[in-house]
Amino acid sequence: MAGVPTFGCYNIADLRRLAKRRLPLGVWEYVERGVEDELGLARNRAGFEAVTFAPKVLRNVEKIDPSTTLLGCPSSFPLAVAPTGAAGLLWFEGDLALAKAAARAGVPFTICSASTMDIDQIAAAGGRLWFQLYMWADRSLSSAVVARSHELSCEALLVTLDLPVPPNREYLYRNGFGTPFRLNPKNFTDIALHPRWLLGVMGRYALTGGIPSQANLPDRLRNKVTQAAHPGALFKQDNLDWDEIGRLRDSWKGKLVLKGILRPDDAERAAKIGTDGIVVSNHGGRGFDGSIASIDALPSIVAAVGSKLEVLLDSGVRRGSDVVKAVALGAKGVLAGRAALYGLAAGGEDGVHRALELLKAETVRAMGMLGARDISEVDASLLA
Ligand SMILES: Cc1cc2nc3c(=O)[nH]c(=O)nc-3n(C[C@H](O)[C@H](O)[C@H](O)COP(=O)(O)O)c2cc1C
Repeated sequence: MAGVPTFGCYNIADLRRLAKRRLPLGVWEYVERGVEDELGLARNRAGFEAVTFAPKVLRNVEKIDPSTTLLGCPSSFPLAVAPTGAAGLLWFEGDLALAKAAARAGVPFTICSASTMDIDQIAAAGGRLWFQLYMWADRSLSSAVVARSHELSCEALLVTLDLPVPPNREYLYRNGFGTPFRLNPKNFTDIALHPRWLLGVMGRYALTGGIPSQANLPDRLRNKVTQAAHPGALFKQDNLDWDEIGRLRDSWKGKLVLKGILRPDDAERAAKIGTDGIVVSNHGGRGFDGSIASIDALPSIVAAVGSKLEVLLDSGVRRGSDVVKAVALGAKGVLAGRAALYGLAAGGEDGVHRALELLKAETVRAMGMLGARDISEVDASLLA
């Protein structure tokens, strides 16, 4: 699209390299890494790489339309921006930059429970908004933010289920980037070596109100990332069960989506309680290292519930052809986590726009190569 800087980046891997240069190691590894031995992370990419196509030829692909609907509303191509809690550490007011870029690109954006801007500030970006829910120990905090997301016309509530206990992110301790954040010689040097980030991100926060905090909490509970959380204001999902999700289903009037499903029987249970959609996800390899790759889990889940609810997928999407692979295997669309974050760290709103523009252009190109003129023609018949 005219007027959008390229940043000298012609694919998501280019944006990734730029992001890596710009971020302190501690922040970079928080975005990039998986958990433990990072086998899940590797499986996500290997899963996509193993899917191949048998293109159809002579199909007159002069006009290609990648638009679709996601959860019942139009989207310019089958992708939404995933919830990513740390956006505000990558760019000043990073959540807003992500939301604005998604609105410009005509795709939905998912606001995070853990964001460092509150839901009202992010909703100002316009566009299609979904809200991702983690349960706080004090469930009344969750109810309040869910009610606010409804008032702000968030169309869907995505409840993340795949972190019942905290994930094992050893590198955070190694880098001294735990919560609460404590300055030590190692992370001090890391930050000092990235003055552009220090001034452009942290410096701007310092000038406009201080260190970021968990913004979706009421003022009295909002601690800065350098302070321990108040009791009750920590996420607590180990006691979450199907009954609680069922009650949420009864009370939430919008679309309800369960994120982090990897088994057909869980997907069937989700359908049974009236869930509108699921995200087949292993949390981008950031939750449990032993989990199956989402793209490998997708076919059996689609076979079980594809006709009953909308199946979305995330974890490992880095190319438009990955979007097309997921759709060919039965997903309605994908969520992009790190791909959007690389764009954010590389260039704020314009960087995210570049990431989305690249993914969309690659999606269109892949459809052309396959002889698919619109999304309804992207199906299993294209798979090798
Ligand atoms: C830095 C970062 C923060 C994330 N924070 C959240 C979060 O707060 N809630 C959530 O449900 N998922 C979160 N995720 C997971 C994403 O929503 C998504 O499942 C994952 O990034 C998809 O994999 P991908 O990064 O390979 O696209 C986060 C992912 C990253 C990379």
